[in-house]
Amino acid sequence: MQNESRLAVLGAGHVGPVIARLAIGAGYPVAIATSGDPDDIALITELVIPGAEPRWASDAVADADIVVLAIPLHRLTDVDPALLAGKVVVDAMNYWPASDGVLTAFENGASNGSGSSEIVAGRLAGSAVVKALNHIGYHELEDRARPAGRALQPGGPVFGQVLTAPEFERAVHEDARSLS
Ligand SMILES: NC(=O)c1ccc[n+]([C@@H]2O[C@H](COP(=O)([O-])OP(=O)(O)OC[C@H]3O[C@@H](n4cnc5c(N)ncnc54)[C@H](OP(=O)(O)O)[C@@H]3O)[C@@H](O)[C@H]2O)c1
Repeated sequence: MQNESRLAVLGAGHVGPVIARLAIGAGYPVAIATSGDPDDIALITELVIPGAEPRWASDAVADADIVVLAIPLHRLTDVDPALLAGKVVVDAMNYWPASDGVLTAFENGASNGSGSSEIVAGRLAGSAVVKALNHIGYHELEDRARPAGRALQPGGPVFGQVLTAPEFERAVHEDARSLS
């Protein structure tokens, strides 16, 4: 089933293509971009993310309802916040000094207990920023993906039930197995 929300995935490294593939599988129209020319990722996109459209980042974002930031955090300053205004932004990034270098704003955030996404959300004040998908390795994101769930809704396996945690888990897993 085609979803009406359009996704732009910024980043075509490790995690961006996985998120793009999963989103396509879930019925979203997906554009994917790096900071460069979409022609440079056209072939690889066709091969590993069939159905995704390689685009310039600004064009992908302009046409998207949801933008996934799957870029190294230190590259965020390359992204114009005005482009993202009014969009739902999924912040899948982590502050990782080993690859980002030491970024003072994020070091300060870590020392006062705020997470990197609060700083990201402050920079993208015109967007609705959701921190998600950052905590799972790209292999697991794909290998452990589950069918779209509706377990909590009326008719779902746990709706209206009073269950212990193990019973809840069992019911949800059995339902997921029956869908896959
Ligand atoms: N690897 C994982 O398993 C994993 C899982 C969850 C979350 N994360 C987080 O996701 C982020 C990306 O990780 P990764 O491992 O996928 O990094 P990566 O393999 O280095 O890929 C980064 C991608 O971002 C692109 N990029 C950089 N600046 C950009 C910009 N301004 N606009 C559009 N694209 C841009 C790069 O292409 P160009 O340089 O050619 O533009 C590249 O395709 C990190 O913050 C990481 O912590 C990673």
